[in-house]
Amino acid sequence: MSSIKYDLEIKFGSRYGKEEEEAVIKVLRNNAPTSGNECIQFEKEYAAYTGAKHARVVSNGSSALFLSMIGIGIKPGDRVLTTPITWIATAAAPVTLGAEVDFVDIDLETYNIDVNKIEEHITPNTKAIIPVHLYGQSCEMDEIMALAKKYNLAVVEDAAHAIGAEYKGRKLGTFGDAGCFSFHEQKNISTLGEGGMVLTNDDALFERVSLYRSQCTRVHGNSTKYCKLDEAKFPVGKKFWWQDFDDCGYNFRMTDIQAAVGIEQLKKADKLNQARINNAAYLTHELKDVPGLKLPTVRSYNKHVFHLYPVLVDAKEFGLNKEDFIYNLLHKYGIKAGFHYIPLHYSTAFKNRGFKKGQYPNAEKVGEQLVTLPINPRQTEESLAYLVKSIKDLRS
Ligand SMILES: Cc1ncc(COP(=O)(O)O)c(C=O)c1O
Repeated sequence: MSSIKYDLEIKFGSRYGKEEEEAVIKVLRNNAPTSGNECIQFEKEYAAYTGAKHARVVSNGSSALFLSMIGIGIKPGDRVLTTPITWIATAAAPVTLGAEVDFVDIDLETYNIDVNKIEEHITPNTKAIIPVHLYGQSCEMDEIMALAKKYNLAVVEDAAHAIGAEYKGRKLGTFGDAGCFSFHEQKNISTLGEGGMVLTNDDALFERVSLYRSQCTRVHGNSTKYCKLDEAKFPVGKKFWWQDFDDCGYNFRMTDIQAAVGIEQLKKADKLNQARINNAAYLTHELKDVPGLKLPTVRSYNKHVFHLYPVLVDAKEFGLNKEDFIYNLLHKYGIKAGFHYIPLHYSTAFKNRGFKKGQYPNAEKVGEQLVTLPINPRQTEESLAYLVKSIKDLRS
């Protein structure tokens, strides 16, 4: 039971092996640097895996979003559109730069931003859209990119849940001006609990992301090589290098130990995703006839990588509301489900910015009913069967 309980927990989605252990030791014995060869290698391999021109490794998904907002030039007074059903990091990225967020209601099938409602939110100040590929399933990228073109908007994909996911055969994170990933411990691959990546095909955006990630440091001289601070003050050999800061930036770097783990995790990404997809298929097959549960809808052209497995619990039909469902599952059966997410316009942060209950009916309905069931690549058939049986028992 205790191992089953562990398997069913939503936390600790990451799964490491001997390869990651060996990678850690190797970099540790090499003095464990930051932003060194392992980071550069991880970027190269992530770019190759996704098909993006550039990849820049960063400290987490939040900093990836923040740097992308800087990269596209978001400033005070700009407006950015996104979904209210997401983690606060999505909306915090533009807001912490002084921009305003406007939410667009969601599609009731995929729970992603409703592309038919985006246009009515566009104003002369709207500069960007952040589509969130929620739970690992793509937003409607053809429609979003067409709107972006029509209104000259930037698109920054929040692909935190969507490592390896695809839309019409193409990897997510490569459609917009930038794509942002998270390697937090619960994500489909992880770099020791925290980590992130920005993808882009745009050279200028890539340079801005890279500069602001590392305190806008630029080394001048007849080499672009990194130069140590003492070397910056004095001539080095026949060359004279000096260091300057283009602007005040941040330190959002990743360490080489994390990147070395990322390289090994990336090799396993498709296998880890396939385990999630298989587990999701099992749950869908076994739960499809349970009255009062609405199971995930996967669009035919999407490769959904099931970072999470969302179900809507209809209190009348199922006999329990969402809160009791989650509470009883934990206390009677030791299974920890989640509620990703409570609509962001209910939060103090956005109530204080003038948002009110009633503005986003679909997000609110989903917020009332949504439960995310445990899903991770470690689940065995035994633990999945236990999860299914426990849910069925909850009704009786
Ligand atoms: C949709 C979404 N965007 C962004 C983030 C931020 O990622 P991180 O936790 O790596 O900062 C998360 C984290 O859970 C997320 O779920």
